Amino acid sequence: VTASVRSCQAASNSALVGRTAWEVQVGSGPWSAAAVASAVAELLRAAGVEDAAAEARDLVALVCGRPRFWSLIEPEAEVPLDALERCWKATQKRVLGAPLAYATRVAHFRFLTLVVDERVLIPRPETEMLVELVLSETGGAGGVVADVGTGSGAIALALASEGRYGRVIATDLSSDALAVAAVNLRRLGDRLRAPVELRHGAGLAPVAEDCLDALVSNPPYIALEEAGELPASVRDWEPPLALFSSDGGLAVTVDLVRQAHRVLRPGGLLALECDSRRACAVARLMEAVGSYRDIRVELDLAGRARYVVARRSAEPGL
Ligand SMILES: C[S@@+](CC[C@H](N)C(=O)[O-])C[C@H]1O[C@@H](n2cnc3c(N)ncnc32)[C@H](O)[C@@H]1O
Repeated sequence: VTASVRSCQAASNSALVGRTAWEVQVGSGPWSAAAVASAVAELLRAAGVEDAAAEARDLVALVCGRPRFWSLIEPEAEVPLDALERCWKATQKRVLGAPLAYATRVAHFRFLTLVVDERVLIPRPETEMLVELVLSETGGAGGVVADVGTGSGAIALALASEGRYGRVIATDLSSDALAVAAVNLRRLGDRLRAPVELRHGAGLAPVAEDCLDALVSNPPYIALEEAGELPASVRDWEPPLALFSSDGGLAVTVDLVRQAHRVLRPGGLLALECDSRRACAVARLMEAVGSYRDIRVELDLAGRARYVVARRSAEPGL
């Protein structure tokens, strides 16, 4: 405890020193994008962040809601005082070890810009491909689609904005995560082409009474014993409920596979993201359940087995 109090004090002291350094760096206004990026880079570099200049450019662009490389393309563009203060706060958080997305509270996912914080997993590029699979398998249109374990709402909101579904249901066991998804739902508003419903609950309980055309999920799939293999930025910052699952990482996935055929219409799609070490086990489980056909494992862009897709057979259990 003493050690952790000391390390907190050290962190806050260095943040205070950083504030003075920051004021010296940015000087008095008006502040240009390039000058702010350079001041951010100095503080990140001093904190040992790798590739500080590139991160600083990204941080300033994300905080100011501008395109990447904004500070290079428009170096003289003015950064308003409120954005300058947000750049400082984001830098401070990044210096304390937060991933850039939590520091800036912004994550890009497919065509969407989402608000994220420590209540939700930061949406990953490989999950963009899970959305692609669902869009192509469903023809991107019609029916009711559910995203179980929606977190920030990334999958559900991407499907609702890119597809033409009748309805999208987004569920999560974490009411904190659903609060973030609600913010994103509200912000995206008119960009969505389907109504999106947020529902709270475990596994398939929130959709137990529905007849779904597609069920998609990126469930927690890391085994508790694998926590030590994760980078500190993941292990120390992202919500454990979003990362870990018992039974060697498979508990939530196994429940979904065992139950999904009860809520899918015959021919309905089941699409799951998995750990590459366990995708074949998930496919074998689908076989064993006996209610799915056309089961296949798909690879991500790095060639890793990351997705398992299947259709509910006409006769469940046969
Ligand atoms: C890996 S994160 C995925 C978040 C988001 N879908 C994405 O791809 O960025 C898993 C999500 O599942 C939720 N979750 C964990 N266990 C669950 C369960 N038993 N039932 C429903 N949701 C669960 C977590 O709260 C978390 O938001």
